Amino acid sequence: MNNKSIGVFDSGLGGLTAVKQIMRELPNENIIYFGDTGRVPYGTRSRDTILKYTRGDIRFLKTFDVKVIVIACGTASSAALPMIKDEFDVPIVGVIDAAVYAAVRATKNKKIGVIGTPGTIKSGEYEKQIKEYDSDMQVYERACPMFVPLVENGYFDTPVTKIIVEEYLEEIRAQGVDTLILGCTHYPLLEKVIHEYMGDGVTLINSGAEVAKYLKKKLDGEMAHNDRIDEHQYRYYVSDDISSFEELGGIFLEREINGQVNKIDIEQY
Ligand code: DGL
Repeated sequence: MNNKSIGVFDSGLGGLTAVKQIMRELPNENIIYFGDTGRVPYGTRSRDTILKYTRGDIRFLKTFDVKVIVIACGTASSAALPMIKDEFDVPIVGVIDAAVYAAVRATKNKKIGVIGTPGTIKSGEYEKQIKEYDSDMQVYERACPMFVPLVENGYFDTPVTKIIVEEYLEEIRAQGVDTLILGCTHYPLLEKVIHEYMGDGVTLINSGAEVAKYLKKKLDGEMAHNDRIDEHQYRYYVSDDISSFEELGGIFLEREINGQVNKIDIEQY
């Protein structure tokens, strides 16, 4: 048994889509979430900046003596984690491995699409990892920078959303992929429109849901579950305004988080 908390972080509130899945898979675990709302977005920043922010976020979560840290952010998982994973004495799990594992099992025609922020796509990490499984796989990638602001402004399923989805996904669809990795925290909220555009024949891989399944397997394997099942708790930390996080975070998480959020100065870590 291991009653320490699971630490999760993201550049902002998007990572709550992964937290929702972790709560489903592992309902008895304590979760400490950090959303770097003061420095979001990460997806359009240089690799050096993403590395610096990611290291600070990990150092902050380590102050809680967590048993594992989950990087819910697609950008930090792809542009930073491969370089820094050996710097810390705590297991760190990113979203890429889990999403790639699911995608290579889902595809029948070996054509996989990947969408994410510019930072994620520039890192080349998805293509690299997919080809490590099978070098015959064909990978079609596309950065979709307008998806994050659409989601943050509540444009989940509007005519504008549909036009932008078509603009970004036209080429990937034309390549005949049968599997598409949603490689960013925010994209599950666009899943309906993306599914309608790509069609029933294309399996969408939700990286947050896959990392939650992966984490469950990892805790099962290491017998590292929390056994104080009546006492689990959720705590949220942000680096900017609390009230907007509470409001939008509730939508991402589909549960009320008012009164459970604290603000910290992430520059100190
Ligand atoms: N959380 C980021 C990701 O999954 C999206 C928002 C941002 O650009 O920081 O890549």
